[in-house]
Amino acid sequence: MSPIAPGGPRLVDGRDEPPVRIPNFPYIVLRPAEGRMAARDWKTGEKRRNREQQGGLTMARVALVTGGTRGIGAAISVALHKAGRKVVANYAGNTAAAEAFTAETGIPTIRFDAGDFAACEAAVARIIEEHGAIEILVNNAGITRDGTMARMSRDMWDQVIDTNLGSCFNLCKLTFDGMKSKKFGRVVNIGSINGQAGQYGQVNYAAAKSGIHGFTKALAQEGARFGITVNAIAPGYVDTEMVRAVPEDVLVKIVARIPMGRLGHAEDIARGVAFLTADEGDFITGSTLSINGGQHMY
Ligand SMILES: NC(=O)c1ccc[n+]([C@@H]2O[C@H](COP(=O)([O-])OP(=O)(O)OC[C@H]3O[C@@H](n4cnc5c(N)ncnc54)[C@H](OP(=O)(O)O)[C@@H]3O)[C@@H](O)[C@H]2O)c1
Repeated sequence: MSPIAPGGPRLVDGRDEPPVRIPNFPYIVLRPAEGRMAARDWKTGEKRRNREQQGGLTMARVALVTGGTRGIGAAISVALHKAGRKVVANYAGNTAAAEAFTAETGIPTIRFDAGDFAACEAAVARIIEEHGAIEILVNNAGITRDGTMARMSRDMWDQVIDTNLGSCFNLCKLTFDGMKSKKFGRVVNIGSINGQAGQYGQVNYAAAKSGIHGFTKALAQEGARFGITVNAIAPGYVDTEMVRAVPEDVLVKIVARIPMGRLGHAEDIARGVAFLTADEGDFITGSTLSINGGQHMY
């Protein structure tokens, strides 16, 4: 017979719920409402009022998704919206796509260049004023300007570095203090398989995406003691307009190298973002989640 584990049944939300014991591990006692108990004061058992709870109402956390109106970003915005977040989706210039996105999803959008620090500063101030402090940041905005070294201009280099990597600095810089003061933050930076493995004709893109992975690990170390997690996702080839720009014969060769035998869907990446930004995900930081159908493993 198993010895009785200390503690016994605990009063949870006015009801006695018996603890669950695991056979052969009598010293482990799972309490059915462990998660709910965690939100109580450990001495008095009273429910803790967190900063989001005012008068019994839970305020949704504000999430900013850069490049959040098309492709992978649109799927991320929708996934976070479905997870109960108050999402604001950013875009660069395609207003028609942004308007269609809002009409379909009800998610508000904001136009600014994520690679431009001054533009980000004005936008973050506006979002805070209209929606509240940003607690979840998804740095997804990205572009490609491909060409071999012989053909790559300095301008193609700068555009890709500024949009893909500079945007991560800009928006983390502008939101990090707010997250610190809330003692909560979730940052997800969208890298790429090509930042992990390199790609012919993409020194700019591979450098920017590889930079994102280093940036993520460094910032994760700064955020940890403030309850801020910083993670990256490295998508493989995902069926969006960016990939549709790749010539058909090249795409066929790419798909042949994907063990799962298909391109990724934007939702495959969005699920990863929802996982990494969950309130419960507070022990996952500095990691890079590869979502690539098995194309690159290391
Ligand atoms: N698709 C893939 O296979 C793949 C693979 C690995 C990584 N990724 C990465 O995943 C992210 C999303 O890619 P995607 O394929 O979904 O791209 P996409 O379909 O081309 O959509 C890009 C989004 O980013 C926005 N954007 C571009 N430049 C911006 C800027 N300077 N400021 C603000 N927003 C900007 C666009 O706004 P507008 O609508 O106004 O143009 C659009 O909403 C990128 O970081 C990309 O590098 C993609």
